[in-house]
Amino acid sequence: MGGRLAGNTCLVTGAGQGIGRAIVDRFCAEGATVIASDISDEHFTDLPHDATAVRLDASDAKAARAVAARYPRIDVLVNCAGYVAVGDIFECDEADFARSLRINVESVYVMIKAVLPGMRERRSGSIINIASVVSTTAAARRRFVYSATKGAVIAMTRAVALDFVGEGVRCNSISPGTVDTPSLGERIAAAADPVQMRVDMIARQPMGRLGTPAEIAAVATLLASDESAFMTGTDIVIDGGFSL
Ligand SMILES: NC(=O)c1ccc[n+]([C@@H]2O[C@H](COP(=O)([O-])OP(=O)(O)OC[C@H]3O[C@@H](n4cnc5c(N)ncnc54)[C@H](O)[C@@H]3O)[C@@H](O)[C@H]2O)c1
Repeated sequence: MGGRLAGNTCLVTGAGQGIGRAIVDRFCAEGATVIASDISDEHFTDLPHDATAVRLDASDAKAARAVAARYPRIDVLVNCAGYVAVGDIFECDEADFARSLRINVESVYVMIKAVLPGMRERRSGSIINIASVVSTTAAARRRFVYSATKGAVIAMTRAVALDFVGEGVRCNSISPGTVDTPSLGERIAAAADPVQMRVDMIARQPMGRLGTPAEIAAVATLLASDESAFMTGTDIVIDGGFSL
């Protein structure tokens, strides 16, 4: 089968819904074989036929090593699993702080450590970390620990990119602005005034709309494919102007 990712096996974490799921759909449409992993398998009923569902807590090192052993050839790793803690520093209790670090930071460490040995052996691979424009790039109110974790994702991306630049492995990140996904819908629904919250979310982006998961998947496709062969350590901002 043709396509920009034909012949590639791609592992996506947090693939059950939202951006992760859009990446699975787009990668399959581009001819890839996709391992769609998520901590929950409740959304894996209608996957494209080139995708295999795998239940995986991306922050569990032992489980990640087991998946890497079962699929020894992973050409593209997309670290998409994430969690948004809402609140300023006083609203962020120890449990939320630890949870945010585990899901957003430790999962990236764990997954790269599990998959990178195979990439080094083949002297080929593309790692894509989903960061956020709310990080070192821009601030948003009441996103204290979330910003910290996504800043860490951008920093880890650069560190890995430099350490393995001579071994055929690339590592880049994507920083979306506000994207219309199920978890965003839940955060809006949980607000004191959901209608105003949606208006405020849209107002943060000068383009006057939310991004779509498919738009993020398009950038992931570029980073996964050889069309971006000269790119490593880069953070691609796709935010409707949020950070301008
Ligand atoms: N939606 C946005 O506006 C937005 C903006 C910038 C960045 N992002 C980032 O993009 C990524 C995806 O966001 P989304 O809005 O599509 O998310 P979402 O919350 O809709 O989906 C996240 C998925 O990750 C899974 N998950 C959670 N913890 C996991 C774990 N430990 N192991 C494996 N899977 C786990 C969930 O089950 C869920 O299916 C996240 O990293 C998020 O921080 C999202």
